[in-house]
Amino acid sequence: MTQNLFGEPPTPYAAPEPIAPGAALLRGFALDQAEALRQAAQQVIAAAHLRHPVTPGGRAMSVGMTNCGALGWTSSRTGYRYSSTDPLSGQPWPPMPACFADIAARAAAEAGFEGFAPDACLINRYEPGARMSLHQDRDESDLGAPIVSVSLGLPAVFLFGGLQRSDRPARYGLAHGDVAVWGGAARLAFHGVAPLADGEHPRLGRQRINLTFRRAG
Ligand code: SIN
Ligand code: FE2
Repeated sequence: MTQNLFGEPPTPYAAPEPIAPGAALLRGFALDQAEALRQAAQQVIAAAHLRHPVTPGGRAMSVGMTNCGALGWTSSRTGYRYSSTDPLSGQPWPPMPACFADIAARAAAEAGFEGFAPDACLINRYEPGARMSLHQDRDESDLGAPIVSVSLGLPAVFLFGGLQRSDRPARYGLAHGDVAVWGGAARLAFHGVAPLADGEHPRLGRQRINLTFRRAG
């Protein structure tokens, strides 16, 4: 675990940790790129501000979101969809930083998915108390490509279940620099994030930033 609960230095990346057929945690895989990823995420956020999208059920999400890349995931009362423009500005989403595409492709390959070229990156910002309820990522037209999810900042509890909403999810700690990859038989697994515990991360402060890479178009 790279979880830094007792102030120990994070453990360097060793090997994929399988959590289900088609799914693995790569603990510490992004640690040596974390500062570059943090800075690039800040630049995207400066250009396309975080917002709390409303779900079709009418509730604002507790997670702040924005996107970069050719396509961005959006939610509104009319549903979930991918869009090539930011509905707030009408402008294209900021381009995907090279360090984003690079870590996503390398993490996917490390987990057994060669040739992953994401065209969408959702940036999720969790403040203490923010959570993401169990869901499937199923708005992408190409379900053959995996999902790559990079964690920065405060540690979170990742919930990873099965193909049915009723499957009881397992809980995994995700720390700064950890990467989760799921595809193949796990591509439509239900997953979510438990309410973020308060804390102070040395580089990111009181927040967790998650980068979710997808092949959407
Ligand atoms: C997501 O499912 O989009 C986010 C997962 C995470 O924040 O780790
Ligand atoms: Fe998701």
